[in-house]
Amino acid sequence: PTALAGRHFLKELDFTEEEFRGLLDLAAELKAAKRAGTETRYLTGKNIALIFEKTSTRTRCAFEVAAADQGAATTYLDPAGSQIGHKESVKDTARVLGRMFDGIEYRGDSQAKVEELAAFAGVPVYNGLTDDWHPTQMLADVLTMTEHSDRPLREITFAYLGDARFNMGNSYLVTGALLGMDVRIVAPKSYWPAQEVVDRAKALAASSGARITLTETVDEGVRGADFVVTDVWVSMGEPKEVWAERIKALAPYAVTMDVLRATGNPDVRFLHCLPAFHDLGTKVGQEIFEAHGLDSLEVTDEVFESEHSVVFDEAENRLHTIKAVLVATLA
Ligand code: CP
Ligand code: NVA
Repeated sequence: PTALAGRHFLKELDFTEEEFRGLLDLAAELKAAKRAGTETRYLTGKNIALIFEKTSTRTRCAFEVAAADQGAATTYLDPAGSQIGHKESVKDTARVLGRMFDGIEYRGDSQAKVEELAAFAGVPVYNGLTDDWHPTQMLADVLTMTEHSDRPLREITFAYLGDARFNMGNSYLVTGALLGMDVRIVAPKSYWPAQEVVDRAKALAASSGARITLTETVDEGVRGADFVVTDVWVSMGEPKEVWAERIKALAPYAVTMDVLRATGNPDVRFLHCLPAFHDLGTKVGQEIFEAHGLDSLEVTDEVFESEHSVVFDEAENRLHTIKAVLVATLA
């Protein structure tokens, strides 16, 4: 068993720097083994429940393929297909699933729900995204950064542009702080993470040596960055009505070629957890573009399709990093 055997994976704040780095190292090993065709199956006979109260492409597929690669089986419970919270309490659901499964993934709105599942399941519970945190995404993003940089994490700078009050902004701030990185949150002040999250990040930074900057100024925020990162401006679960206000507030923070140039770094890389509104490829995007006279939102198509963009490496790394979480907690 590994040092993380039996542990939950609920939010970055629950882990030490060493534990988080251990997961990244394991992910890199598992990735190399899969590529070489030498992967060992550590999870034969295990069963993992995947509860999705919000939709997903990457997270669901990463859990399913990771489990299959490792010899484990998965059961998918879709937003309509479980009784959780409607007909059966989270606490009862946790105790039922805990009797059948070796691990449980949960995606939904409330962090309190995934924490409650973890408190009563008796088996490891994994946060596949809540409104507050997206910790499996952080493993993939940091792994991608290490693959696209020659420098150690403590010498890497990244800038997150956009709505930083939600899962991605919170997770980036805390993860960068935990790992001793140079973290820039670049957004209008009203879109910065909650003070409580900033305080936790600053406390982590005091021991890790991380540098934390929150700024409204794009030029200052991205200067010298190795990575520029963004996320959708309206997250799952938010009403359509907020688009107008978001576009107005966040348009100056869209990732354009000018923003990449402002880093002063010709090798700057672009990351996005995806899905992204960069072209007319989606129905939702088309409606919003049309209503607001735009042809992209948080990132231009030019940046998304440029040599700076490593978003598909990042997406692939969801698989290897989620596999690392499963192996570390269940093997
Ligand atoms: N990045 C991410 O979590 O993607 P999905 O919503 O498709 O899982
Ligand atoms: N902030 C986005 C992330 C999607 C992976 C959302 O919650 O919808």
